Amino acid sequence: MNPIFERQSVRKFLDKEVSETQIENLLKAGMQAPSACNQQAWEFIVINDKKDMIEISEMHRFAKPAGEASKLIVVLGNLKEARLEYMIEQDLGACCENILLQATYEGLGAVWLGFHPIEDRCLKIRKYLNIPDYCIPFAVICVGYPAIDSDVKLRYDDVKVHYGRY
Ligand SMILES: Cc1cc2nc3c(=O)[nH]c(=O)nc-3n(C[C@H](O)[C@H](O)[C@H](O)COP(=O)(O)O)c2cc1C
Repeated sequence: MNPIFERQSVRKFLDKEVSETQIENLLKAGMQAPSACNQQAWEFIVINDKKDMIEISEMHRFAKPAGEASKLIVVLGNLKEARLEYMIEQDLGACCENILLQATYEGLGAVWLGFHPIEDRCLKIRKYLNIPDYCIPFAVICVGYPAIDSDVKLRYDDVKVHYGRY
């Protein structure tokens, strides 16, 4: 299986626990991502308390899946650790994608909930989880066993590809 072509956002989950080992595998995949100057300025908060998950699910109107997942991974960017701060969003994006792909590989479902750079979303999660001001609350990844069937469509579109010059 090539998880790149199997991955899809999963927003409905079965009532089944994802193990700590599986979460650790997702974190290992996240930390294996490329980063500018190999700065690896990511940190993570793993959430498995139902009350916290419900609170996070109410932080914005597209965050509902957080209330149904087995666990959440909050992906943070630590600005104190970043040598190239202006690259950190790209590093964290690669990190999130690795987590999603590993989830697919493990037979899990996941969805990326956007927080950074939307200020009110960041304020809410920062306050609720006690995230220090030198850390960016970049995204929340909801993880669980999928309660939906696979419906992945290939997106390759040769109109978007330019060879040699635009
Ligand atoms: C930066 C970013 C922010 C996203 N934010 C949300 C979100 O807040 N809620 C949500 O349900 N999905 C969110 N998604 C998932 C996208 O909606 C999803 O990736 C897109 O519709 C394509 O579908 P697919 O992931 O199944 O291929 C986000 C994805 C990215 C990359």
